[in-house]
Amino acid sequence: METTYQAKDFDTSKFDAKIDSLISQMTIEEKIGMLHGNSMFTTGGVERLGIPELKMADGPLGVREEISRDNWAPVGLDNDFATYYPAGGGLAATWNTDLAYLFGNSVGQEMRARGKDMLLSPAINIIRSPLGGRTYEYFTEDPFLNKKISVPFIVGLQDNDVMACVKHFAVNNQETNRGTVDVQVDERTLREIYLPAYKAAVTEANAYSLMGAYNKFRGDYLCENDYMLNKILRDEWGFKGIVVSDWAAVHSTVKTLENGLDIEMGTPKPFNEFFLADALIAAAKEGKISEEEINKHVKRILSVLFQVKAINGEGRVEGSIATEEHYRDAYKIASESVVLLKNDKNLLPIKTGNIKSIAVIGNNATKKNALGGFGAGVKTKREVTPLEGLKNRLPEGIQINYAEGYLERYANNEKIKLGDITLDGPVTIDKLEPAMLEEAINAAKNADMAIVFAGSNRDYETEASDRASLKLPFGQEELINKVLEVNPNTIVVIIAGAPFDINSIKEKSSALVWSWFNGSEGGNALADVLLGTVNPSGKLPWTMPKKLEDSPAHATNSFPGDKTVTYSEGILVGYRWFDTKNIAPLYPFGYGLSYTDFEFSNLKTDKVTYNADDLIKVTVNIKNVGDVTGKEVVQLYVSNPKTKIEKAAQELKGFKKVMVKSGASENVTILLPAKELAYYDVAKKSWIVEAGTYKLKIGNSSRNIKEEVSINIK
Ligand code: BGC
Repeated sequence: METTYQAKDFDTSKFDAKIDSLISQMTIEEKIGMLHGNSMFTTGGVERLGIPELKMADGPLGVREEISRDNWAPVGLDNDFATYYPAGGGLAATWNTDLAYLFGNSVGQEMRARGKDMLLSPAINIIRSPLGGRTYEYFTEDPFLNKKISVPFIVGLQDNDVMACVKHFAVNNQETNRGTVDVQVDERTLREIYLPAYKAAVTEANAYSLMGAYNKFRGDYLCENDYMLNKILRDEWGFKGIVVSDWAAVHSTVKTLENGLDIEMGTPKPFNEFFLADALIAAAKEGKISEEEINKHVKRILSVLFQVKAINGEGRVEGSIATEEHYRDAYKIASESVVLLKNDKNLLPIKTGNIKSIAVIGNNATKKNALGGFGAGVKTKREVTPLEGLKNRLPEGIQINYAEGYLERYANNEKIKLGDITLDGPVTIDKLEPAMLEEAINAAKNADMAIVFAGSNRDYETEASDRASLKLPFGQEELINKVLEVNPNTIVVIIAGAPFDINSIKEKSSALVWSWFNGSEGGNALADVLLGTVNPSGKLPWTMPKKLEDSPAHATNSFPGDKTVTYSEGILVGYRWFDTKNIAPLYPFGYGLSYTDFEFSNLKTDKVTYNADDLIKVTVNIKNVGDVTGKEVVQLYVSNPKTKIEKAAQELKGFKKVMVKSGASENVTILLPAKELAYYDVAKKSWIVEAGTYKLKIGNSSRNIKEEVSINIK
């Protein structure tokens, strides 16, 4: 049966009397003090009334180290080490909703141990272009997978008396010009692709807060966007929590507040100069904004503070941080996230009995990613690198010869170009050092097998800039090709958070593995997959294109725009585009191999004809026909009836990860509410399930459909 994640009750009316009494005792200055940052990561409290500061912390990789109150420099404490959890792409690649809950719950514990109220996470923007600088932080290109990972994450987090701050609301799908760009996206696409996970965060997970994004949407900044913040979020979805701005994303005083923002956060400048500080006090005194309006926002903030027991903190979760248990949580996520892309000659899992030496090649074998780049990281005492993971896990007596192979180098004074546009992203130096190349080749020649750890890192994939191309940086392709020439027993492991051009590597190497910025235990988890202690079960959460121009935003020449960016591909984001336009990807959405094989049979639904509000029960039998136990992700795609309305060729509408023992079978049930089949009718402003015949397809990637059945909707 489906695991459901029960959100905590979020009816704050029980606090009304207390809140009204507090508000009646507050001065206008005290109220306004709660509406803006009074340090980098807190807002003002009112000590005399027992209202504490609201304490926030980044972010998606775990609880960020303590940052100074008035600038970005770390305080340098010795008690703010945390667990580094796998980045968003890794979590999504597990396709395991229980692990999403575990992640949220584990990091929620760490937040409480650090005395925090609000985690600036999860980051759930849709991956529109493979070049997006924050692709590694986000989950997926698919709205269904996005919400199914987001909801349990938020519930797990908030179970610890901590607020999630779901970011970045919304249509913040690129870093280029993120502070100014005006996103134009049609209404149906907005509803079907970009909003579902936020809606589920609010209506299913009861998220206590959301972060307004930097960019504009249809002409208005997202932190002062009446349509998004008042109409959709509050009026339609019934959101009762608070909206916090991204750091320095506010551009007005009265407008931002009236249009739905509650808290302004920002980057260093005197905190009284914030739009919602002195300027708001003046506006209130001049009668440009009513006290009632200000009270409304203060009340919301007090509600969430009561909700997480930050006021009257009796019985609040105390938490724990950087414990062995939390490292194990990080390990569990990492071990299910690794994607086996290719294993033609069964080089994997590594047969340690047959080898005496391994050449380990590549800067990524030792590169750490907990900190680095622009944007939030985690200060941790444990980050097991791939090389350390191998050393920990390989049986004694196997010699490891490490060669760095390539250097991570940047040309600081150059600008990168994408067509006519100049991007801010890092320009890499892609020339190999001859001596290092020779060292790597010799290591590979003289070993029974080689593993190249390549890909990118968090300096190259980073917030605030997008990449200019899919090319592997630092000359890695040449290095990999040369290593493959001298040792055909070479496994290539790409560690990255976003798609790269690995066409030639796919062609030439027989063993190809994908891993992520994968947390404190990433290296151990990866080694366990390579050695077969863990059978890989990760699946790509996005499409790996053969070339950039095949991706929808690029095929339609609508990335990254300039002052405006128009999402011309409409609803055909990610695999929806590739499947509808019949373009073969390099690796499809949902793809990932195992060390065993699974057979699917006997796909059935409990009925043939359904009403639009029915629950469709889909069952399929899955048999493990290989020698080892493994986990498979059963994926349910739906093709819509042919009508006048544009539809994608197929859409993910259900999935379940199951463990099947070698030789055994499992009956898998996926419950599909018929209302999931709806499209958004713009004229009627509502979701419509069209009558007709729908094809239900079961497979283990979007391009590997094993069985199909048809059902009718009345
Ligand atoms: C990022 C947010 C982050 C905030 C605070 C901004 O630059 O966009 O995701 O939470 O900084 O560090």
